[in-house]
Amino acid sequence: MALKIAPSILSADFANLATDVAKIEGVGDLIHVDVMDGHFVPNLAFGPQVVAALRPLTKLPLEVHLMVENPESFIPSFVQAGADTILVHAESTHHIYRVVQMIQEAGVKAGVVLNPGTPIEMVRSVLHIVDEVLIMTVNPGFGGQKFLPDMLSKVNHLAQNRDTTANGDYAIEVDGGVNADTIGQCADAGADIFVAGSFVFDSADPAAQIQRLRGLVE
Ligand code: DX5
Ligand code: ZN
Repeated sequence: MALKIAPSILSADFANLATDVAKIEGVGDLIHVDVMDGHFVPNLAFGPQVVAALRPLTKLPLEVHLMVENPESFIPSFVQAGADTILVHAESTHHIYRVVQMIQEAGVKAGVVLNPGTPIEMVRSVLHIVDEVLIMTVNPGFGGQKFLPDMLSKVNHLAQNRDTTANGDYAIEVDGGVNADTIGQCADAGADIFVAGSFVFDSADPAAQIQRLRGLVE
């Protein structure tokens, strides 16, 4: 699986999103959009209007990371807005299987997400249908937090499961605290997609930061 760098616009300049997206066009592999409802996580960020506004500005796939309660009710509006992938936390719904089906039936790729305190068992029954599994490597809600290395055992387990059994053909993504010091460990554990927010956008040259990360894993 080709490795991908996914800049997270949570650390971009919100007053100049178009400018920041232009800086990573053709350099990042996709754009990670964090959606927060102030309930599932203690912060607020981005709604479907932002995804719709970004859609015509970039050729990069838009990946929506839903950190919301009752994710079912938001899926149609993010599909409509032009999301290419929708990621749903296993902890946020009683019906993770149904939510994955809903997303895929709408023609969009579906991923499941696990908080640091949540074991792989929570998503084992959907591994054979999902397009992606995202392992949170920080507690979700904020950019700029410290990487949690003990999450790498989950990445490793998912990679082994995918590569040695017939249970799944998913990409493995990590999100939180990914930078030049931590990306190597994530790649070694078996991650394919690396979300990076503050490392990319807290820099005068986001494109160079993406290339730096890419150089460390390819
Ligand atoms: C955190 C978000 C992340 C965030 C990562 O809840 O899901 O996508 O943007 O930011 P960094 O890379 O700064 O840890
Ligand atoms: Zn995220």
